Amino acid sequence: MATTTEPAIDGLTPELRAKMALALDVDDLVEAVRLARKLSPWFGVAKIGLELFTAAGPDAVGAMIDTGFDVFLDLKLHDIPTTVGKAANVAGALGASYLTMHAHGGEAMLRAGVEGLQTGAMNAGLPAPVAVAITVLTSDGDAPAHIMPSRLRLAVEAGCGGIVCSGATLRDARELSPRTTRVTPGIRSAGGDSHDQPHPLTPAKALEEGADLLVVGRAVTLADDPAAAAAELFADLPDPG
Ligand code: C5P
Repeated sequence: MATTTEPAIDGLTPELRAKMALALDVDDLVEAVRLARKLSPWFGVAKIGLELFTAAGPDAVGAMIDTGFDVFLDLKLHDIPTTVGKAANVAGALGASYLTMHAHGGEAMLRAGVEGLQTGAMNAGLPAPVAVAITVLTSDGDAPAHIMPSRLRLAVEAGCGGIVCSGATLRDARELSPRTTRVTPGIRSAGGDSHDQPHPLTPAKALEEGADLLVVGRAVTLADDPAAAAAELFADLPDPG
């Protein structure tokens, strides 16, 4: 297998593209669609977070699906089990492929979210989405080390298929639960601005450490030329050709 350091100017292979989630942290759907279209050769998943969902609502989900993306609905649900279950049911019916919820909400809440998500998708005739548990927010620098493993176990027991984990905890998460999908933010090129990400990793390093879905935002979305920034960011990945 050949490797290259040339930018992946034509985009990624379908296998790699399916592992890349573009964080559309903007407050305008037209801008989000414009960015997503431009970056579609590198990203197979569009992440809609609280900012875009608050601005555009479910239309954002439909727009990204229509543009050819799987949708990662990053709503970080945390409420009583009934409410989370009902909200997750709607997210499943909308066609989200991934939905986040806080493990801090407890096992009953996570279980309600998992069941709601699956039921919503099934009733709409859609494939089963992945419920992704947030173990610890990266902004919670005071969280003790045992929290990630205990929340990971809780998430798995509740039926979540994935967790969000930082670059610092990827290896531990893989060891503790190899079959759980690991979603990792903080992806940067070597030496790139890490902004407020405490554990930046390059794409190649994140894959090597066991990330299954890499979340990329400002490293490309803030660039003057987002497509050129994506080509440069992913240049360290192996070239299957
Ligand atoms: O830093 P970047 O813009 O690549 O962030 C992408 C995603 O990572 C954000 O949408 C957010 O969900 C998450 N994030 C995080 N911790 C931070 C900053 C962002 O987990 N400190």
